[in-house]
Amino acid sequence: MNKEKVLVTGGAGFIGGNFVQHMVSKYPEYQIFNLDLLTYAGDLVKHKEIENADNYTFVKIDIADREAVMSLFKAEKFDYVVHFAAESHVDRSITHPEIFVKTNVMGTQVLLDAAKANGIKKFVHVSTDEVYGELDFDPTTFFTEETPLQPNSPYSASKASSDFLVRAYHETFGLPVNITRCSNNYGPYHFPEKLIPLTISRVLNEQKVPVYGDGKNIRDWLHVKDHCLAIDLVMHEGINGEVYNVGGHNEKTNLEVVQTIIKELGKSEELIEFVTDRLGHDKRYAIDPTKLQALGWKPTYNFDTGIAQTIQWYLDNKEWWEQILNGEYRNYFSDQYSIK
Ligand code: NAD
Ligand code: TYD
Repeated sequence: MNKEKVLVTGGAGFIGGNFVQHMVSKYPEYQIFNLDLLTYAGDLVKHKEIENADNYTFVKIDIADREAVMSLFKAEKFDYVVHFAAESHVDRSITHPEIFVKTNVMGTQVLLDAAKANGIKKFVHVSTDEVYGELDFDPTTFFTEETPLQPNSPYSASKASSDFLVRAYHETFGLPVNITRCSNNYGPYHFPEKLIPLTISRVLNEQKVPVYGDGKNIRDWLHVKDHCLAIDLVMHEGINGEVYNVGGHNEKTNLEVVQTIIKELGKSEELIEFVTDRLGHDKRYAIDPTKLQALGWKPTYNFDTGIAQTIQWYLDNKEWWEQILNGEYRNYFSDQYSIK
């Protein structure tokens, strides 16, 4: 019997990479295709253990390259598409918004056209809670699937645009889709431009940690492995056309996150440096996951266990993040921050 084919876009990045590893080991009956352009955020080093697996195939393609995407879909006739590929960093979207429109909006539209032309069982679009905009500091308010979209950054605006296209392909053409909107992820293979891996790597190197503004902005942290379980569930059980929010009620201020990491590593809070705030910095994100829980999802990590394991992972995998810090990342860091 032919294996069912699952196309994962962005499977060389942080969340897509964890999802590819989850799928390859859990489902030998599926052929998992990882489509990735290998931008600065993607690498295949993380897939050393699965690269020779029978049910794993890598293809290097730009999702915005219509011809290449169309011919891949025509040749492979995928059953499922799980779409992670994106430009994902808010700070980069403030300095260079164009690529966010090309990849996140136009790239998604190319994939939707390819899925529509070739008939698929499900297109899961991995989006973000940032499309809802920001919440104030009232701890009883949460983003639900009904919260209106009010994106504030070029990144979240590009993701919201892609969400609308996915919705439109369902409403207009009947494409079987789901949209997931997740809170901030953390865990293995998180690229060190984002707050948690940036803090761990800099604290380990005894370097200053830049905290934007007063450090009181709140994010709702979810372990990447719990996110992967959620997407697996939505891919198989999600009701066509529905949106599912993913989050585990782990709200922390940025300062609390940085202080926790410094404490776990036994270093001094003198490493904290408050720097100029991010433009348009969203105050607070917090997810109401009731709808996904009703489908059967339950997070397996809380922040305390998850952050301790993540710090240990970064200690055990220095080689992976050090080769990133020693490359092009250096120029990024000195352009982005006034500290050394
Ligand atoms: P990431 O930046 O770590 O990885 C993105 C991957 O996409 C990389 O492997 C990159 O090479 C690839 N890519 C970029 N442009 C491409 C293109 N044009 N064609 C093909 N591949 C391309 O991102 P991530 O943090 O893993 O996020 C994955 C998805 O999850 C994104 O859609 C993001 O919006 C969403 N999301 C992320 C978070 C988070 O906390 N990181 C939270 C919610 C949602
Ligand atoms: P980030 O990891 O970039 O994720 P997002 O912007 O998608 O939430 O940032 C998480 C929070 O940490 C956000 O409120 C901005 C803040 N932050 C800092 O204070 N300093 C930094 O150097 C970075 C990268 C982020």
